[in-house]
Amino acid sequence: MKSNSQGKSRFKIVFVCQQCGKENPKWLGHCPDCQAWNSFVETRVAVSRISSRPHTGGNKPQELSQIEGGDFPRLRLGFTEVNRVLGGGLVPGSLVLVGGEPGIGKSTLLLQISATMARNNETVAYISGEESVSQVKLRSERLGIGGNGIFFLSEPDLAAVLECLETLSPALAIVDSIQTMYLDDVAGMPGSVSQVRECTWRLERWAKQSNVPLFIAGHVTKEGAIAGPGTLEHIVDVVLYFEGERFSSYRVLRSEKNRFGSTNEVGIFEMSDRGLLEVASPSEVFLSAYKDQTMGSVAVPTLEGNRPLLVEIQALTTSNSFSPPRRIANGVDFNRLLLITAVLIKRAGLKLFNQDIIVNVTGGLRVNEPAVDLGIALAIASSFRDARPISGLVALGEVGLNGELRGVSQVERRVAEAIRLGFKSCLMPDLKGKLLFDSSDVQLVQAGSVAEALRLGLTRKVGREIGRGEYTEQECG
Ligand code: TYD
Ligand code: MG
Repeated sequence: MKSNSQGKSRFKIVFVCQQCGKENPKWLGHCPDCQAWNSFVETRVAVSRISSRPHTGGNKPQELSQIEGGDFPRLRLGFTEVNRVLGGGLVPGSLVLVGGEPGIGKSTLLLQISATMARNNETVAYISGEESVSQVKLRSERLGIGGNGIFFLSEPDLAAVLECLETLSPALAIVDSIQTMYLDDVAGMPGSVSQVRECTWRLERWAKQSNVPLFIAGHVTKEGAIAGPGTLEHIVDVVLYFEGERFSSYRVLRSEKNRFGSTNEVGIFEMSDRGLLEVASPSEVFLSAYKDQTMGSVAVPTLEGNRPLLVEIQALTTSNSFSPPRRIANGVDFNRLLLITAVLIKRAGLKLFNQDIIVNVTGGLRVNEPAVDLGIALAIASSFRDARPISGLVALGEVGLNGELRGVSQVERRVAEAIRLGFKSCLMPDLKGKLLFDSSDVQLVQAGSVAEALRLGLTRKVGREIGRGEYTEQECG
């Protein structure tokens, strides 16, 4: 162990995994914790001295029943969608990490949040380590933000940033992004685990001491985690992910961790030429181009967090006798598509082995829950058999390997949303009378298996079409 020139603090050399922050005294090629390869970097870390004096003063334990007020005062931001995701507003002194891919709109969102605060005559500090004053000015002009009350600082040195925050004492602070901040007394490049962790830790202490809420933006790695995830997510109070498909204008703000609320809430936005707009009724937006009884197209009530959201699932099958059949999944899980295709072949008798299959969720949305399985199956079968889904139908249910249909969570909410949007019938698993809602507004078409669901959910082919398809009417149902 060596000591530095002043001899005040001591440091040691360790090897730190840049993915998860695991420390090891020797270099390792493979991280035993997060399984990353070649991720260990030699790092100098300070060794804190343990005081030999007994600890006096400080906090005493309190009996829980004697502590008053379990609720937090909350700062309401101008965005209802953001307030919802935060659990009802921003808690003073909380540290909120907003993660997302580069270019998804984190800086835009944070600048717009700053503007809503500044509108209430509050001071906002906006610190950027990656953009210059003129770049941010350009963006604010584009967003129609005058900028009164927003104090901008382009500075990657966190010590200077903390000094600035002390003097400014804002009502809200933004640090964009954590990977560009550095501390002189910490080893490693900006963005390395040691820098990111120490910078976040100091910002956390500043937020708690000054009782000012603080947003930090964080880039995500290719694998979809915030760089240095294992360490960072422990430190902050709230982790939000800002997501969206490339080429789609819709963005979803999702909560991954929230010390002050539920993680089931999501906020939905649209990126327009004037910045992010809130989408109050997302189902209407995602179904705006949906036409009843379109070949290969099925409406499915999904859940985004606690929020029911109707999406349109489209499938197209084309015969391909020359090369191995291709499967393309846009917005749904690829392995799930393979599973559903296998079940359709084996359990419902669809000859899909020489068919290319493309499945797409319109609007660039991603749905990962198994409740969309039946919708995918029905869309594929509809396209393959040239049979339209019956009029006014939504489909929901998980598909099992034996071709059975399984129940999904919160059926009532999903069906209520479908009724609200004017759908007349719902194809679903046989719940054996376990429904908790009045089904007079909607016809429940219950099926025990995928094969039965296809029979009940698709219209029979008309005479003209029979000659074209490879299947006769009997096979269709
Ligand atoms: P940005 O907030 O810079 O993303 P991040 O901070 O996550 O890297 O947003 C970048 C994208 O958003 C950019 O490609 C342009 C687009 N954009 C709009 O479409 N409309 C707007 O009003 C603004 C400001 C940006
Ligand atoms: Mg940015």
